[in-house]
Amino acid sequence: MNPKEKAAQYAFEKIENKFHKDFILGIGTGSTTNCFIEILKEKKPEMKCFVSSSSASSDLLKDAGYIDAELNDVGGPDIYVDGADEVNSKFELIKGGGGALTREKIIASASQKFICIVDQTKVVDRFGKFPVAVEVIPMARRYVSRQIVAMGGRPNYRIGFLTDNGNQIIDVLNLNFDVPFETEGRINKIPGVVENGIFSARKADYIVISDGAKTYEL
Ligand code: A5P
Repeated sequence: MNPKEKAAQYAFEKIENKFHKDFILGIGTGSTTNCFIEILKEKKPEMKCFVSSSSASSDLLKDAGYIDAELNDVGGPDIYVDGADEVNSKFELIKGGGGALTREKIIASASQKFICIVDQTKVVDRFGKFPVAVEVIPMARRYVSRQIVAMGGRPNYRIGFLTDNGNQIIDVLNLNFDVPFETEGRINKIPGVVENGIFSARKADYIVISDGAKTYEL
């Protein structure tokens, strides 16, 4: 097993006894999440339904026979499982490499617990190497970019990409990460921004990390 598969396996074993007929799973997006989905397909734990952050993950779980629910129709997931692009020791995350950050943040916020699964390369002392994805209403893209430049950021339009919500993504480097919570809030105050990939207001509750040889949780 590679590190992503090991992190997914550890997370599954951690929550295996929580599944039951009324259980609602929140599921994220990305290659590490796909490893977790593979385990669900093999072990087939019982659940009422799942709520997914992307059509890609929905399709995989529907194939396995699970019911794809709308967040509006269910109270909120018991547990949300998802990967990340960067994690720190305060359980804060950078997410959005796959462009599903807005739905991910909504589902993470609506869930009782959030388990983040990553390989060791995602663990950082300070955020900043991985660009922060900012989902924007298309007509506001250039305005938002200028506001981000005024904050000291370096925005880069993700050309040819549309989110599942029909919006565009700006990937931003050179943000100030002295206090990630403040940067998260500041970006979201710019009119035209839908959401950004800093998960500090809603952190992970657990982070499972694997380097292949060793798998552990924060
Ligand atoms: C999707 O938008 C992201 O937040 C992913 O969770 C993140 O990019 C991790 O992806 P991998 O598991 O593929 O590294």
